[in-house]
Amino acid sequence: MSQDSKKETGEKDAGCVDCGRRQAFVKMGVGSIAVACTGAAVFGYEFLGPNVLYEPSPIVNAGKPDGFPPGSVTQDQASLVYIVHGAEGIYAMSATCTHLGCITAWKPELGIVACPCHGSKFTRDGTKIEGPAPRPLPWLRAWISDEGDLLIDRSDFLAQKQYVRT
Ligand code: FES
Repeated sequence: MSQDSKKETGEKDAGCVDCGRRQAFVKMGVGSIAVACTGAAVFGYEFLGPNVLYEPSPIVNAGKPDGFPPGSVTQDQASLVYIVHGAEGIYAMSATCTHLGCITAWKPELGIVACPCHGSKFTRDGTKIEGPAPRPLPWLRAWISDEGDLLIDRSDFLAQKQYVRT
């Protein structure tokens, strides 16, 4: 190998080292831009998207009224309502205590609704018997759908008692 060819090889080697460094900087730049664009796209999507809190519907389908025999008090743990079949018809009542919002429980052995937090007690129609609760348990609007199901609107508190006749 001649001196000239070594010189040429040396120059080529120096050129490749320089070329590798340049390529590394280009790759780091492209990577940084890609990361910045991805972050901007994510934040842009969240900024432009609707700022909405999706909540479940307050209307509950309790099923067929036949499932609530006369004299029964049914507590729906999922929707936190009582479905009571009294002498005058079916009615729905909130299971949330009017004192500080604890969930009450039906006590079949006593025939009352009791709050486990501070001892409020209510009759089966929500009337307060004792305890710190300031108001009776509210009745909720209930009706029979076109399909024959008992529907209850947990957001619609009734001012007067209202029965669903089956
Ligand atoms: S929350 Fe029910 S009695 Fe206090």
